[in-house]
Amino acid sequence: MSLAALARRWGTPLYVYSADEIRARYRALRGSFSRGVLVCYALKANSSKAVARTLADCGAGADIVSGGELSRALAAGFVPKKIVFSGVGKTEEEMALGLRAGVKAFNVESAEELEALARVSGRLKKKARVSIRLNPDINARTHPHITTGRAENKFGVETGEAVALYRKAAKDRRLRVAGVQCHIGSQITDIAPYKRAARAVAALSARLKASGIPLEFADLGGGLGISYKDETPLDPRELARALEAAFEDQPELDLLVEPGRYLVADAGLLLTKVLYRKTTSKRRFVIVDGAMTDLPRPALYDAWHPVDVVAPRPGKRPWRTSWAPSASRETSSRASGSCPRSRGGPSRREEGRRLRLRHEQPIQLASSRRGSARGRGKARLARKRETYADLTRGEL
Ligand SMILES: Cc1ncc(COP(=O)(O)O)c(C=O)c1O
Repeated sequence: MSLAALARRWGTPLYVYSADEIRARYRALRGSFSRGVLVCYALKANSSKAVARTLADCGAGADIVSGGELSRALAAGFVPKKIVFSGVGKTEEEMALGLRAGVKAFNVESAEELEALARVSGRLKKKARVSIRLNPDINARTHPHITTGRAENKFGVETGEAVALYRKAAKDRRLRVAGVQCHIGSQITDIAPYKRAARAVAALSARLKASGIPLEFADLGGGLGISYKDETPLDPRELARALEAAFEDQPELDLLVEPGRYLVADAGLLLTKVLYRKTTSKRRFVIVDGAMTDLPRPALYDAWHPVDVVAPRPGKRPWRTSWAPSASRETSSRASGSCPRSRGGPSRREEGRRLRLRHEQPIQLASSRRGSARGRGKARLARKRETYADLTRGEL
């Protein structure tokens, strides 16, 4: 089905995902490793059931950060033994949910969290499998808002503290030391920080083994970047080579990765319809029926998304531009794409035409209103469009 037909059938704005593309990316990443790897999909990238189920059906594991994501992961069919529970702020209630479900491990991020986990395990009489998140103080050379592996970031613990926590966990009968985890940031397009992080994790696991605390797995997090504009994404084979090289001397360790964006961002787009055009003395604007509620990344961190016309009028030069939130975005229920004059824009006749915003991705779909997934040439609706009544449901 063409994008124009999808828009006609289900209306706009509409998220469209290709299940085939998601599967292809999963296989490309997994196939890049020669020693076997568990690819745990980071649900925060898009926790919609249709997207998550596509990966669960491929055999992927899941990386979750909340009780809500745990319930979504289970509903999508992920096997609990392949679910890792990350996140700096797990509550005891969420830990209990994870323990009862039988998750593979909890990625613990602080000494107090470790104590809380031990308390919950003791109460439930169920050993929690522990993996400490290492903060290696490495700059992932990405946007500051999505850098997580520096000492000034709230994530993980530094090497000295990690060793102390492992010693404590190893002595605690309520806990079982299982692995080590490290995630230095997102949208990484440079292999150097990955190599440094992998070496730091490998050094820590070797040191633990030498002191009588052998680990089962090393989890190197997510972060693989994609190309939004002119970035050159990392080839997953390069990542695999770097990780395998770092752990060459520790063949007994299982490797894990937790990609989110890499698996789904290029598989999705947001279809919108042009409503109006307007021009100021400085710029030309295109008002569409999608808003920052549907695509918040540009407003959150100046992210750039290419926009193009789904079916340009015959004989008309197709135009391309990028998406930017409108100046009055906080109060507007509509967002606008802004087209620099020099790059053209839709003609009067293109009003009502559909635009597609590529790399529709993270974070918002879980809390957003619409969704659609596509696979094997057939399209199906993955989520019903919300009604006005849905908007106030649950409000007292
Ligand atoms: C712990 C953890 N793992 C994995 C991911 C996924 O990252 P990405 O979508 O960049 O692959 C994130 C993202 O923030 C994360 O915090």
